[in-house]
Amino acid sequence: MSIQIEFKTLKAHLQSVIVGQEALLDKMLIALLTGGHVLLEGPPGLAKTTAVKTLATGVHASFQRIQFTPDLMPGDVMGSDVLDVNSGSLTFVKGPIFNEIVLADEINRAPPKVQSALLEAMAEKQVTAGGQTRALPEMFLVMATQNPLEQSGTYPLPEAQLDRFMLHLVLDYPDENEELEILRRDRAHHFGENKEAANPFLSPEKVLHARHQVSEQYVSDSIEQYIVKLIAATRKLGELDSAMEGVLEVGASPRASIALLHAVSAYSWLQGRDFVTPDDVITLLPDVLRHRLIISFSGRAQKWSADNIIQKIIQLVPVPVGIE
Ligand SMILES: Nc1ncnc2c1ncn2[C@@H]1O[C@H](COP(=O)(O)OP(=O)(O)OP(=O)(O)O)[C@@H](O)[C@H]1O
Ligand SMILES: [Mg+2]
Repeated sequence: MSIQIEFKTLKAHLQSVIVGQEALLDKMLIALLTGGHVLLEGPPGLAKTTAVKTLATGVHASFQRIQFTPDLMPGDVMGSDVLDVNSGSLTFVKGPIFNEIVLADEINRAPPKVQSALLEAMAEKQVTAGGQTRALPEMFLVMATQNPLEQSGTYPLPEAQLDRFMLHLVLDYPDENEELEILRRDRAHHFGENKEAANPFLSPEKVLHARHQVSEQYVSDSIEQYIVKLIAATRKLGELDSAMEGVLEVGASPRASIALLHAVSAYSWLQGRDFVTPDDVITLLPDVLRHRLIISFSGRAQKWSADNIIQKIIQLVPVPVGIE
């Protein structure tokens, strides 16, 4: 069975647990295929935790959920040196970050010290403690959730650090039919008809092999240029449309271009293609850019949102023609 088909089976498994939210499931697979971290934002109770857990069991990855709270310390996440009373020496006890898939639940409830330790580990795929650096697992992937409703007692993530996330996904409520199906599945679950995965669908080795295939997707020069033009547009909006002068305080960095390239490579691979199209780029641009745009005071006064600005950029930057 080709790995692509195995990924389809994995998606079908996710769909047997999660109703709807298809974009979320596709993008979680993109994260898995690129090693890019994901920030999930949405009101409580939209199956964020369930989706990440199901993904982790589906690939037989070591998984740990870390509930972020105001009293969490960096050592609680990273690990710390503990005195061994027998030998009298210090031994490092690894923290929950040393797992293949880490769910950082409610990341904005932890103080900045913990957030920045986590984001550093995400960027460098290693943890430094007690003067020693330890590598995180090859497949290491962080899915962090953030709850937009709860403003009091939260610490918003600094914009510069948000850049470490490849994708920022915003979830919405299910429609009524989907909600009915959620109820039915919940009832089936309580009566023991639960279709939990008996066997994982993919091994971590296969995921890494798929990552290699994704890195070899064909990306034409014109697609590369399109990606760069879209990202660079965030730094010179006024040149594209004088009405947008000064709307953004800061645009996106080259990290955004790299993230977009990785995301579209994985997305096109999942569609069963071996090349990237402009439509792939347009589909993924909002999730790649959303968290990287810092809207200025005047931009906010003019009611610009990151998503509006991204749609405007898509309209203003010419789509390359005749690629493939
Ligand atoms: N789309 C869905 N498909 C299947 N079950 C769902 C869906 N949306 C919500 N649920 C159910 O709602 C409940 C809440 O899910 P879960 O705990 O994963 O939400 P959450 O988004 O992590 O919430 P919180 O932000 O409060 O942590 C679970 O029982 C879950 O099965
Ligand atoms: Mg949750």
